[in-house]
Amino acid sequence: MTNITPFTTRKPRIGILGTGSMALALGKSFLAAGHFVAFGSRRPETKKEFHEIVGEESRIYGYQAAIDAGEIVIITLPYKEVAATARKFADSLRNKIVIDITNPFAAQPNNGDSGAQVTASIIGEGARVVAAFKTNFAATFENPVDSTGEPREVHYAGDDEEAMEAVEELIKGIGFKPVECGTLAQSVALDHMVPLMIRLDATELDAQHLSSFRLTPG
Ligand SMILES: NC(=O)c1ccc[n+]([C@@H]2O[C@H](COP(=O)([O-])OP(=O)(O)OC[C@H]3O[C@@H](n4cnc5c(N)ncnc54)[C@H](OP(=O)(O)O)[C@@H]3O)[C@@H](O)[C@H]2O)c1
Repeated sequence: MTNITPFTTRKPRIGILGTGSMALALGKSFLAAGHFVAFGSRRPETKKEFHEIVGEESRIYGYQAAIDAGEIVIITLPYKEVAATARKFADSLRNKIVIDITNPFAAQPNNGDSGAQVTASIIGEGARVVAAFKTNFAATFENPVDSTGEPREVHYAGDDEEAMEAVEELIKGIGFKPVECGTLAQSVALDHMVPLMIRLDATELDAQHLSSFRLTPG
C-alpha cells in the first residue's frame, strides 16, 4: 500500500489508466505542471509514438505498474471498462486517491447512484474516489483560460476530505478553477451534465468541443 502524505510541499506522482484523448490531455497538463506521470495501457509495447506525442519525460506501463507508480490514480477508460478494471485492481487502488473522470451516458446506474459511487463501491472499504474532469472536453486542456480570459471550471465531488483537497490543488496547478460540487453521491449531477454539455456544444457552438460550463455572478 502506498503511504499517502499531505501533498503540501511537493507534487504528487500521478498514474493514468488509459492512453486516449483525456489521458493525453490530462497527462500533458500534469507533466507541464511538474508532476511525474505514469500512463497505463492494455498494450504499452504497441505505443511506438507515445513519447513523441506526450513528451520524453512521460512513462508508459501496464495498468498495474501505472497504479503502483501513482500516488493519485486517474481512470480515463471507457465507462464500460471501469467496473472490471476497478475489480481487478481493487487491492492496489484501495487507500489511494482515485479520480474517476468516466462518463456513464446510457449505462448510468438506474438506482440513482453516480458512476463514481459504483467505482468506489467496487474498490470497497478504504476507497478514496473523487469524481472530476467529467464536464471538461479534452480539447480544452490546451487552453485552461477560455475566450473570456477566465480560467475554465473543473467540477469535482467526493467524500474523502484529504482527497478532495488534493484534487483541488491538482486542478489549480494546471491552471483551471476548482468548483466543489458536493459528495460522491451528488456527483450523479455531473454524470447528467455531460450529455447536456455535449448537446449544448452542438446546438450552440457547432460541436467544436472547446466550450466549458461557467457559473457567472448576477
Ligand atoms: N473525450 C472527452 O472530451 C472526455 C471528457 C470528459 C470525460 N471523458 C470520459 O473519459 C473517458 C475516456 O475518454 P476518451 O475520450 O479519452 O476515450 P478514448 O480516447 O477512447 O481513450 C480510452 C482509453 O481507454 C483504454 N481502453 C481500455 N479498454 C478499452 C476498450 N475496451 N476500448 C477502448 N479503449 C479502451 C485505451 O487505452 P489503451 O489502448 O492504451 O489501453 C484508450 O486509449 C470516457 O469515460 C469518457 O466518457 C471524455
